[in-house]
Amino acid sequence: MIALLLAAAAAASIPAHPTFSRDVAPVIFKNCSGCHHDGEVAPFPLVTYADVRGKAKLIADVTRSRLMPPWQPVAGYGHFAGERRLSEPQIELIRRWVAQGAVEGDARQLPRPPAFRDDWELGKPDLVVEVPEPMDVPAEGPDVYQCFVVPMDVPRERYIRAVEFFPSNRRVVHHALLFADSSRIAREPRYPCFGTIGLLPSLGIGGWSPGNGAIRMLDGAAPPLQAGSRLVAQIHYHPDGKPEQDKWRVGFYFTDQAPVRRVVDVGLATRAIDIPAGESHYVVRQHFTVPIAVDAVGVIPHAHLICKEMRAWAIVPGGRKQWLLNIADWNFNWQDQYRYAAPIRLPADSLIEMEFVYDNSAANPRNPHSPPQRVVWGPGTDDEMAGVHIQSIPVHMDELPELGRALWGAVMRSVGGRFYTGAPPQ
Ligand code: HEC
Repeated sequence: MIALLLAAAAAASIPAHPTFSRDVAPVIFKNCSGCHHDGEVAPFPLVTYADVRGKAKLIADVTRSRLMPPWQPVAGYGHFAGERRLSEPQIELIRRWVAQGAVEGDARQLPRPPAFRDDWELGKPDLVVEVPEPMDVPAEGPDVYQCFVVPMDVPRERYIRAVEFFPSNRRVVHHALLFADSSRIAREPRYPCFGTIGLLPSLGIGGWSPGNGAIRMLDGAAPPLQAGSRLVAQIHYHPDGKPEQDKWRVGFYFTDQAPVRRVVDVGLATRAIDIPAGESHYVVRQHFTVPIAVDAVGVIPHAHLICKEMRAWAIVPGGRKQWLLNIADWNFNWQDQYRYAAPIRLPADSLIEMEFVYDNSAANPRNPHSPPQRVVWGPGTDDEMAGVHIQSIPVHMDELPELGRALWGAVMRSVGGRFYTGAPPQ
């Protein structure tokens, strides 16, 4: 009843005869133009009346189906920072505007079009790391997943306050994942890599995808970048019909404030994946009990192409279910790292569970195989993975070793316990 009243009130606030200049432009500028302008990732601009009018019907469809703006978590299962989601009244506004002929209205009412940034969001970085040679992206063909290992000028340990990934060519970069490697192991400067980077990094720095800006670290939790570290970047390039080049840079912003808190990756993953050809609902599960109280600050899901649904939740002592993530139609193209709008407190002994569902049938348009083939765990494009990383800060930092031991035990169990030496990692 209340929901009906609210819906009625919202519908009443939508103008009977919406115009582009007064009503629709503010919605498009705020939610679409950031990716839909020249030189950006989206295939056409949505900035002027002519742009939007030309795609009006399609825009009504993709907003109604929530294909656009791209945002995977289902509403109502947790609040995330920077959610890209239109409200029901905004969707109805667009529908009504298109149904009535996509009228321009009085151009004097048009708000100022958004200004697009072409420089660092947070000003001049303390350190800029640039890939030495540009990457060639072919005009056609499958997406390109490339890893880069780039030396950095870090003579002493630094604390990272923020990081910004800056492609030189935003038309072709679909996502970037950044890590640091403090080992002295000889590495190729660049190599193809798909789901994982193929090495164990010393630090996960963060991820970038179109429409997102700088990555700001949480207060008091600036991750330390060890002296002599190299930057490892995994970049997903999407051919756009003509040969392109990209020479990306990463800007680092440091702080002198040593961290008093640490973000720990509470990772749930399983290798027990063996999906028969044609199976349309293959379910994979994993669980982990946090032995200490933590604040969950973010979540990073990982799977490949034929995963459909991903869910993670916690059962807190007492039995209440706390949602951590719910994606109903996973699309590998949109690899966001989600940060909660506010930390979620998980008391000691909370049981974290994950459930992933895969569709290996011919009816799945994202199935890379036709006809479908058996799919097993592995890092390649043809393989699948299942992982969810709950980024967590111990409520009492002195309890961190206990969490470390529990995580180590879980890793050992997941690989069969054969390598367990009893020693937690340092
Ligand atoms: C985060 C970047 C981003 C945002 C924000 C965004 N788009 Fe898109 N849009 C894309 C990309 C990239 C594509 C190309 C298709 C793909 O790769 O999924 C696309 C494709 C489209 C298409 C073509 C779909 C098709 O089936 O051909 C339409 C229409 C569209 N977007 C409309 C919108 C509208 C309307 C908004 C705002 C409500 C919006 N987009 C917001 C990135 C974005």
